[in-house]
Amino acid sequence: MEKRKKWSSSVLFIMACVGSAVGLGNIWKFPYITFENGGGAFVLIYLFAIFMVGLPILLAEMLIGREAEANAYDSVKKLAGKVKSWRIIGALALFSSFAILSFYSVVAGWTLDYFFNAVTGNLAHLTFESTGPHFGAFVANPLKQVGYHTVFMSLTAFIILRGTKGIEKAIEILMPILGVLILLVAGVAISKYGSAQTLDFLFTVDFSKVTGHGILEAFGHAFFTLSIGLGAMIVYGSYFPREHSLGKAAIWIGILDTVFALMACLMIYPIIFGSGMNVKESSSILFTTLSVELQQLPGGQYICALFYLLVAFAALSSTISLLEPIASFAEEHWKISRKKATLVSAFSIWFLGLASALSNGASDLFTSLKVMDRLDYLTSNWTLPVGAFLVALFCGWWLSDEIKTRELGLKKNDTLYFMWNFLIRIVSPLILLIVFIYKLLQ
Ligand code: PHE
Repeated sequence: MEKRKKWSSSVLFIMACVGSAVGLGNIWKFPYITFENGGGAFVLIYLFAIFMVGLPILLAEMLIGREAEANAYDSVKKLAGKVKSWRIIGALALFSSFAILSFYSVVAGWTLDYFFNAVTGNLAHLTFESTGPHFGAFVANPLKQVGYHTVFMSLTAFIILRGTKGIEKAIEILMPILGVLILLVAGVAISKYGSAQTLDFLFTVDFSKVTGHGILEAFGHAFFTLSIGLGAMIVYGSYFPREHSLGKAAIWIGILDTVFALMACLMIYPIIFGSGMNVKESSSILFTTLSVELQQLPGGQYICALFYLLVAFAALSSTISLLEPIASFAEEHWKISRKKATLVSAFSIWFLGLASALSNGASDLFTSLKVMDRLDYLTSNWTLPVGAFLVALFCGWWLSDEIKTRELGLKKNDTLYFMWNFLIRIVSPLILLIVFIYKLLQ
């Protein structure tokens, strides 16, 4: 059998996973859901969800991939042996990546339009009053929606055509630039408006501000942001050489993903608090109010352009990790060339994505069906958590201690191994079960 291609180094593996984790989830979603849920206490619950439930499952996914050395579907199939029902994990994973990428690429495309318009000075005329209608008209323009979605899917496919080498090349360039840009924009925002109110909001814990819904949202988002529950980390793990530590990688990914999410708040909140803007429509703030405010900073036009470029980079390193699970499945499962696998997968996802692209006012039918919102809801709230739940059970109860200890480089009676196994067998599934029951009762 041909030897599996692997990442060139442990650092590149971690960078690729962080690239997948850090995306629209961190920059667009986390700041607004934290804002809606009152800050400090929500952040604390989110951190609990990331480190107590998310990280153990992330480790489980990477371990499954490295052990089986295949795409998510075939990895689980291989390790499950005769028991066919576990294959549902792989099938669900394929469905989730397919559905998420189809609408994620549309939103990612928006950042390109804002970037080009900022560079050419076309956003300069926007005011707090006109920015909402401007955004509304933009998302209702079918040509632009389909056009940018096509560009973003093509960029993603172009990288994936070259497999791990392509991903590495892209990540090596994207991630450091992303780090620098985020610091720069946060620095500018803080120097103009100060950070006292932001820090106070993020770190003052007041549990009376969180609702049951907020707790669920924190958990759902923890999976989305760590890119778990859909096999992306199984595939990335399958390219990870055996001599490196999976545990260390998982911890780094958890920490860096959290740092990026908090940095995004440090970039956005000083502007919101400092300018006294009215944030009723917080979910579209990234494309409305923020674009006006960014223009008013020193060097505004360029800061604004940089900002949207940054979001586009973050999104691109995530979309490649959404296409890779599908392309690698097609390549390995149907034994077709990487080129064919990439093109067929990308084209089908692009096609499904047309429904999302036209669902914000461009087509009456798709708008009334709320395709984008529904796909987002279905995947973040159901298929990802259910996928993660099944992975926890599969890894916790089905895989042998021998496989797990070998992959983790631990012994069966190590406390660390005991703790992780306990989390994955009992704690994570139980918490997720409570979340599901609560959701069903709502
Ligand atoms: N984690 C990415 C983000 O936060 C989204 C994503 C989900 C990417 C699942 C890959 C897999 O934006």
